[in-house]
Amino acid sequence: MAEQLSQSEQDYPFKLLEYINGFKISKVIFTASQLGVFDLMLQCQKALSAECIAKELHTSQNGLERLLDALVGIDILDVEIINGKAFYSSTDVSDLYLAKASPKSLSNMILYQSQNIYPLWNFLPDAVRCEEELLKFMGMMHSTWVFAAHDVVTAIDLSPFKTVVNLGGCTGTLAREVCLVYPHCSVTVFDIPEVVKMAKKHFCGIDDCITFKEGDFFNGELPEANLYILAGIIHGWEEEKCLQLLHKIYAQSKPGGGVLIVESMLNENRRGPIFSQLLSLNMLLQMEGKERPPSEFFKLLTTAGFKDIQVQRTGKCYDVVLGIK
Ligand SMILES: C[S@@+](CC[C@H](N)C(=O)[O-])C[C@H]1O[C@@H](n2cnc3c(N)ncnc32)[C@H](O)[C@@H]1O
Repeated sequence: MAEQLSQSEQDYPFKLLEYINGFKISKVIFTASQLGVFDLMLQCQKALSAECIAKELHTSQNGLERLLDALVGIDILDVEIINGKAFYSSTDVSDLYLAKASPKSLSNMILYQSQNIYPLWNFLPDAVRCEEELLKFMGMMHSTWVFAAHDVVTAIDLSPFKTVVNLGGCTGTLAREVCLVYPHCSVTVFDIPEVVKMAKKHFCGIDDCITFKEGDFFNGELPEANLYILAGIIHGWEEEKCLQLLHKIYAQSKPGGGVLIVESMLNENRRGPIFSQLLSLNMLLQMEGKERPPSEFFKLLTTAGFKDIQVQRTGKCYDVVLGIK
């Protein structure tokens, strides 16, 4: 059971206000560190006026003075008033832990927290509501394949393959198009458990032509197949991970088996298409991967052991590359 409120907390929510303002305290420390306040104070080893510090650090005096006062308020700097003027000096804490020159400095941690972690916390509500977010993402993948799947599955004749597994197949929308175009095929969507559960709940009809299987393509067994489809998967990962997955598919495939990579391919001369270039920038923001020109897919597939590589552009957003074992 939660602790009873003390009389003083009943009268005034001290603790709660402290928690609510906690993010401002972090930002005060981050800002002072980034401006070099603690470094200057350690260097000078004497009390300095706000005017003098502002001049050294090229900041406004007004803003800096408030920042210095807040640092005094949380006992990170010290202040002395002489003839009505404030003089600020460092403390043991700021010299030992906050100045960059100290061997115990936390300045790198502060920089990373400030520039990388702090902005991420803006998205905490989305992360907590993640089922909703996942559904939105799956909805986006579904809409993509509603317009793009047919071109992709007909770009190369896939009729020789009787069993197909769409690795990371998400909603199953692309896989259903494979069933529609190649009705003799047995098609399985393989994805992580939470995605499979959502796909079954939100994207499946009663007589669905595909089956779903839960798993992890990096850390588990892959289902048997004549053809593995990787649609929008390779562009998500750095080269080492892509090769790990392609090697695994190669090892699992029988001779004559294949892997079909579906991605938006860059031109070899890097002059377009703009859709692919923008998607590549998007991957920089979202994941660790990138879009690639045909030669890079060729290299990835041959490194993993595949041969008879066919590249087929569709002239639309997504293109295909097929490799055979
Ligand atoms: C960018 S989406 C690609 C969309 C998908 N290929 C389709 O057909 O709509 C990446 C998919 O890979 C899945 N995925 C990511 N890591 C995985 C893993 N280790 N094992 C299985 N699936 C994974 C994600 O859950 C997501 O559905």
